[in-house]
Amino acid sequence: MTRRETDHVTSEVIKQQNEIIERIRQNNENEYQKTGRMKYYRVITYGCQQNNSDSEKLKGMLRLMGYNQTENNEEADVILFNTCCVRENAEMKLYGNIGALKGLKKKKPDLIIGVCGCMMQQKHAVDMIKEKYSHVDLIFGTHNIYKFPEIFEKALHEKYTLIDILDTDGFIVENIPVERDEKHKAWVTIMYGCNNFCSYCIVPYVRGRERSRNPEDIIEEIRSLSQDGCKEVMLLGQNVNSYGKDLKIGFDFADLLYKINSIDGIERIRFMTSHPKDLSDKLIKAMCECSKVCEHLHLPFQAGSNKILKLMNRKYTKEEYLEKVNKIKEAIPGIALTTDIIVGFPGETTEDFEETLDVVRKVRFDQAFTFIYSKREGTAAAKMMDVISEEEKRNNFNRLVEVQNQISREINESYKDNIYEVLVDGPSKTNKNMLTGRTRTGKVVNFKGEAKIGELVNVKINEVHSFSLNGEIVINNQS
Ligand code: 5AD
Ligand code: SF4
Repeated sequence: MTRRETDHVTSEVIKQQNEIIERIRQNNENEYQKTGRMKYYRVITYGCQQNNSDSEKLKGMLRLMGYNQTENNEEADVILFNTCCVRENAEMKLYGNIGALKGLKKKKPDLIIGVCGCMMQQKHAVDMIKEKYSHVDLIFGTHNIYKFPEIFEKALHEKYTLIDILDTDGFIVENIPVERDEKHKAWVTIMYGCNNFCSYCIVPYVRGRERSRNPEDIIEEIRSLSQDGCKEVMLLGQNVNSYGKDLKIGFDFADLLYKINSIDGIERIRFMTSHPKDLSDKLIKAMCECSKVCEHLHLPFQAGSNKILKLMNRKYTKEEYLEKVNKIKEAIPGIALTTDIIVGFPGETTEDFEETLDVVRKVRFDQAFTFIYSKREGTAAAKMMDVISEEEKRNNFNRLVEVQNQISREINESYKDNIYEVLVDGPSKTNKNMLTGRTRTGKVVNFKGEAKIGELVNVKINEVHSFSLNGEIVINNQS
């Protein structure tokens, strides 16, 4: 039996980091006694939910050091950028935002500016920051977040840009302090890294190989979340369907779902992302049998043409994908399906693209996240050649969005006049007199009525849009 050998490392490393946290907290406290001024941090997160989850850890540590959260750069004593490199536009946005802080750093030389996350695992990005953005104080990667207190403390005393990047996959460190943005819902990372090497994707290079957390650590975390009032967990991993393979203890993702399903207080279980090649019959059965697992599956198909799927190294065909979708629709009637699609992969002709549209029309996804292919240096696809113009790609992309929006709207129409269970997220951002929440199928619902955050309510849908539904509470489940 192999288990992740984290316990020893965890307690030692965390103990050391906690001592540093306490030292910094003490300093901040002393300064507060002298000046009466509190200290603030701002963490700016780009990219996926994994990054958001990492940011919650950074925030947790900063909070224990005595910093309060702010969304205002002028007020901040620490500004951290947690970066994404999946597509080029996220990178461009980052450089713009770091550049914009040059003036503030001149005005406030004690301000600590840090850059971390996926982009910093790439040498060219670190070099760029060193060369052009010398006002950055610290740079670290994805594998050493647990060491943030140590890196941060050094940066507090160092004049030059401090760089701490681990090239090898980080081991899993449990019990890092977490500052969660919401109490009733939580992201729970169940595994790190990815082994798939889809030819367009940079993730395996910046997040390393698949490493699963021990089941007991995950269960313990969710139990404690539940005691704190959490109702919904989103299990995170680049490919959750291969959870457990590396542990070699005969315990897989389906087994994990059954365990989590039995935790009192948790009402809903979600997970992402699933790779179609690993979506097993056992998992479909677990989704049916676990009452708390929501009727929603995010199943990226990326492209419809078998030629492109092969070039993408996705390891399934269009026909196999459609077969899996049919199986899951049959097993879980009314399940919402969402997906990711890339348009304009090298070698994709408009004829190939028609196959993508065909999948979209056949499956009828509730929602699709659509991307134009973005070349990532170091990936296999970066060496492949384009065969159509940027304009033709853009045209295809627009056609895809139009077809998908129409389907999303038609599916939402079927919700009208029916009643759905909604988990209340709080006041609606668009209409202050309404509340907002989500159905089990993941639809955003804005509704009238009175309820508390984290409550489950029944909402009757009376108006539909492409991306949200409107309604009003009919019966309060918990009253
Ligand atoms: N270009 C465009 N989209 C990409 N994705 C990943 N890498 C790229 C890339 N190089 C998309 C995929 C993936 C989602 C998270 O981002 O669709 O599923
Ligand atoms: Fe990237 Fe493919 Fe891994 Fe997803 S499964 S993170 S697309 S390599």
